Amino acid sequence: MAENKSSNITWHAGETTRDDRESVLGQRGVTVWLTGLSGSGKSTVAVAAEHVLVQRGRLAYVLDGDNIRHGLNSNLGFSPEDRSENIRRIGEVAKLFTESGVIVFSSFISPYRSDRDNVRALMGEGDFVEVLVDASLETCEGRDVKGLYQKARAGEIPEFTGISAPYEAPENPELVLDTNVQSVEESVAQLVAYLEKGGYLGAKA
Ligand code: ADX
Repeated sequence: MAENKSSNITWHAGETTRDDRESVLGQRGVTVWLTGLSGSGKSTVAVAAEHVLVQRGRLAYVLDGDNIRHGLNSNLGFSPEDRSENIRRIGEVAKLFTESGVIVFSSFISPYRSDRDNVRALMGEGDFVEVLVDASLETCEGRDVKGLYQKARAGEIPEFTGISAPYEAPENPELVLDTNVQSVEESVAQLVAYLEKGGYLGAKA
């Protein structure tokens, strides 16, 4: 937990409850936390799932590693400390979105189990759905969509996840998407079915 440097601050509760907001939206807020290697398909699945849900009249929003690092987290790199701070901030942001009733798809490598567990602990029961986007290093390296694995192998990118920095897979994720073999559509269908079954999508979706 980060040290709180502020003093003389008082929590100010609102007059509107989360239930109020969720009944406006007709859905339940949740963070679907996608974790996996670079190139495993996290962002692709997140973007496709967001699209499917919005087409169905549900409010979904993607928080994506590369994008957030352009703004909110532009002062962070890829050291273990910076990755932890990256995930801590995203966890707080995801919590705010979730409490506003939005279905969040977060797409970060989030390689450290303890960082992901801290986010889970921050959120209410049922608000955090951990999803392992499971593609082997061979698969991800074979795709190498951004050409980063090649650079990492050539020693041009230090601390690259899977090559020269660790990835700790979740031990008990709510879902595993095997993107070695599954299509994007199949992964999205698996996610949407989970959300439907869990009652996150409300009656109308
Ligand atoms: S995390 O480890 O802190 O969760 P995050 O998901 O925000 O990472 O960012 C990962 C993205 O940053 C990758 O998809 C890749 O495009 C890029 N990247 C740049 N350098 C690295 C690196 N050293 N390790 C992993 N990804 C990197």
